Amino acid sequence: MKLKQRVALGTFCGIVFFVYKWKEFQDFDKNVKQETFSFSEESIVDQDAIDAEMSRISMNIEKPAMKSNAWEVAKNWIHPRLIYPQNHPQLGWILNQAETSKIKKADILPKGTQLKMLVYLEGNQKAVFKPKRYERDFQVPGKAWNGYDRHNAEIASFHLDRILNFRRAPLVTGRVLDFESEVIPVAAERLSNTFKIVDGRKCFYGVCYYCNEEEYACVDENGKMEGSVTLWFPEDKKLEKIRHPYQRTYNDEKKAKWETDEEYCNKYVKKIEPYNKGNRLLDVMDTAVFDFFIGNGDRHHYEIFKDTPDAMLLLLDNAKSFGNASLDDLSILAPLRQCCLLRQSTYDRLVFLRNGLLTKLLAEAMKNDPIAPVLHESHIQAIERRMPIIFQTIQGCVDKLGKENVIMEVWKGQE
Ligand SMILES: *[C@@H]1O[C@H](CO)[C@@H](O)[C@H](O)[C@H]1NC(C)=O
Repeated sequence: MKLKQRVALGTFCGIVFFVYKWKEFQDFDKNVKQETFSFSEESIVDQDAIDAEMSRISMNIEKPAMKSNAWEVAKNWIHPRLIYPQNHPQLGWILNQAETSKIKKADILPKGTQLKMLVYLEGNQKAVFKPKRYERDFQVPGKAWNGYDRHNAEIASFHLDRILNFRRAPLVTGRVLDFESEVIPVAAERLSNTFKIVDGRKCFYGVCYYCNEEEYACVDENGKMEGSVTLWFPEDKKLEKIRHPYQRTYNDEKKAKWETDEEYCNKYVKKIEPYNKGNRLLDVMDTAVFDFFIGNGDRHHYEIFKDTPDAMLLLLDNAKSFGNASLDDLSILAPLRQCCLLRQSTYDRLVFLRNGLLTKLLAEAMKNDPIAPVLHESHIQAIERRMPIIFQTIQGCVDKLGKENVIMEVWKGQE
């Protein structure tokens, strides 16, 4: 190549490179200008705050001085918009009581569709026992509402509720029952009528909508039955059941309104009580985030405390979650995507928990549960994978409506 040609080629390359870089710079500049709102800016890692969270989330099971009855303590925690306090040095002790207290009586619990037992714990506390039906690594086939209840999902969901700082789920722990000595002697007759022996193991099939003789839960090779124990609310806290505005039809042939109309929230939900202003719709948004994390597509109804002004949406019955770790069902996020609202404190919390802290705290919270490891690794990864999807959904809303119209602590309603 001649010198002239080399110079020409070099100059040409230089120009191409310059134009390319200049274009990149312009695009970059455009992005910065367009983005009125960026998540990464707000994610400041504060090691002290993380350490404080870690110690808040980990459990201490020691009995506190001056406290006698764990159930009384838990009962006094309940407020119209919170079930338990943010800093709860006695929580570990209360859960430990639920794991170890003598069972005075075991009975059927005909309410609901799923196999469970009602147990009366010493010291006058009712609780719901949900037996293990699947191994941890079993991926439940089908949709995000199929399969049996998952006892471990109930436990993990409770801890997620703590970590997200919602505090709207009842207290739950794992428990391993010795069926022979802890259940059989105290079983009510209508429960023992559902006992059977399969392959030499003791099993029960209970009484409920879907309960039948062929679908039972059995003890393991050591005669133990693993399950979750959910503390019952005090008798004076009556519940009211409400149809979820994003209820599914559970019928492939027939779509719900929200599935065919992206304006469903603006046109209908935001206009009707109790969603037209105040806390309830923001609670529904929190619940969508919560359910997306846990993979629960089955919240067709929800409960609130009856006759309670400004009652919270309770996160009861989370056992249809953590079924298929590979499935991110975006329809669970439909309320968030369509209503485009999120409570400021929830948003701030998510910003704090992104980048791995959420699952780190979850592992810390559950490591001493009697049935640990509570979740299979695939579900932990699923939670991490779902976090950016939630942020993308929020970002989509912010791009469309502006941050001040999406993220707020108080929803004043449509003007
Ligand atoms: C779990 O979900 C994924 C993604 O939808 C799917 O490909 C897979 O078949 C599901 N697993 C089971 C066991 O159904």
